[in-house]
Amino acid sequence: MNRIDDDLTNSIEMVSDYLDKALIAEIMEEHKGNIMRWSRLARFEVEAYCRTPVFKCSEFEIVVVGWMPGQFTPIHDHAGSFGAVMVLKGECVEEYYFTNTLGKASLLEAATHRKGEISIVDQSTVHRVGNSLASKIRCITAHIYAPPLGTMGIYEEELTANA
Ligand SMILES: [Fe+2]
Repeated sequence: MNRIDDDLTNSIEMVSDYLDKALIAEIMEEHKGNIMRWSRLARFEVEAYCRTPVFKCSEFEIVVVGWMPGQFTPIHDHAGSFGAVMVLKGECVEEYYFTNTLGKASLLEAATHRKGEISIVDQSTVHRVGNSLASKIRCITAHIYAPPLGTMGIYEEELTANA
């Protein structure tokens, strides 16, 4: 496990008794310059996006993800964790979903996050994240989750007559 930014992890540990998503985003913003340097930790694989764990304790974890064009997560929740995602390189597409009582997901809206932007992951967020095939360049993101991610729920997209 890499541990490359003691200032950041110390900042989070100091306030871990009352961590919330706003505080995580604030701390990420405060350490933006250092977090940007983590792009050198990113790895890429042709088969799928690639997660590189940076730090993990009982209260939070930090992961850097490398995305080739066209690579996306499945539609997923965060098993009760909250957190924040910062784009270190390229652009990150995020699609937000609504899930019905049968567990099927319907697209609500999509957003494109650019270098330096931070997206909040709420405890109720169901989304799909990735790098558009049209981007033609690699994307790198840094993720903080509190508590560390458990077993996430994976959802199928509800197909409509127009799909
Ligand atoms: Fe996610």
